[in-house]
Amino acid sequence: MSPSQPHSLTLITGSSRGLGEALARQSLEAGHLVVGIARGRSEALEHFAHERGLPLQQWQADLSNPLQIAQHLADWLRTQPREWTAATLINNAGVVTTPGPIDGESLPVLSAALRVGLEATLLLSAAFLDATRDWSADRKVLNISSGLGRRAMAGSAVYCAAKAGMDNLSRAMALDEEHKAAKGERAARVVSLAPGIIDTDMQVQLRSGDLSKFPDRDRFAAFKSEGQLATADDTAARVLKFLARNDFGQQVLADVRDA
Ligand SMILES: NC(=O)c1ccc[n+]([C@@H]2O[C@H](COP(=O)([O-])OP(=O)(O)OC[C@H]3O[C@@H](n4cnc5c(N)ncnc54)[C@H](OP(=O)(O)O)[C@@H]3O)[C@@H](O)[C@H]2O)c1
Repeated sequence: MSPSQPHSLTLITGSSRGLGEALARQSLEAGHLVVGIARGRSEALEHFAHERGLPLQQWQADLSNPLQIAQHLADWLRTQPREWTAATLINNAGVVTTPGPIDGESLPVLSAALRVGLEATLLLSAAFLDATRDWSADRKVLNISSGLGRRAMAGSAVYCAAKAGMDNLSRAMALDEEHKAAKGERAARVVSLAPGIIDTDMQVQLRSGDLSKFPDRDRFAAFKSEGQLATADDTAARVLKFLARNDFGQQVLADVRDA
């Protein structure tokens, strides 16, 4: 690896818009090689990286069918030089279905939401940890969770399930990493972080819900009208600051608002 090449690798799902796009832009600015994964591409991100000569790859993949992309990630990581100082996987992609009870939603839509939010997180994490097992890099997995993984809300059962699953997946993965460290093996650090409420498409979807199926709708409308939503850029800065903390991983379930 030459001195001009990046020393940090950051993989970010859901990088085409919202929080993921802001995380990708700020990671590029910090000099990382960024690999974004989403169905779409961000032209703004492409332009940003191109103008500055920053190393960005945008992989287009549907995370509701995550097996192939997880395998591809593992294969690609194995072709990478091992001299990275840091390697981070941020599982940020998430899906909110039309707010309402599960029996009012189509089965394929429910299945896809759970797969993006939970199965993709598990498979990409497994691929990342396995393919980088022998790297000397400081390895981290950051799962973007939600307060709704820790408390339930009507009209969002699949989202609540995916985030609660993500939280306990992270806790169990962290125990496995602790066990590896105790055996003298290289271990990664794992955190499941609630990012606060952010002014993105996801919030638009929630406040546009049908009140008869989503009793909390007006609370979401008030978040916007009362100026309570953070920008994606501000949230990304807080998330990346959290990621850089020396004690990252000591508390597996965390909330950026408590930091
Ligand atoms: N916004 C909030 O207030 C809030 C609050 C708590 C937690 N969060 C969490 O923060 C994270 C980012 O949320 P956000 O608000 O930025 O969401 P968003 O604006 O809706 O963006 C979601 C991202 O996920 C990607 N994605 C969705 N379905 C996908 C699929 N099938 N395959 C691949 N990528 C897919 C989207 O890309 P494509 O559509 O291009 O595929 C997009 O880049 C999520 O995990 C969310 O649960 C958000």
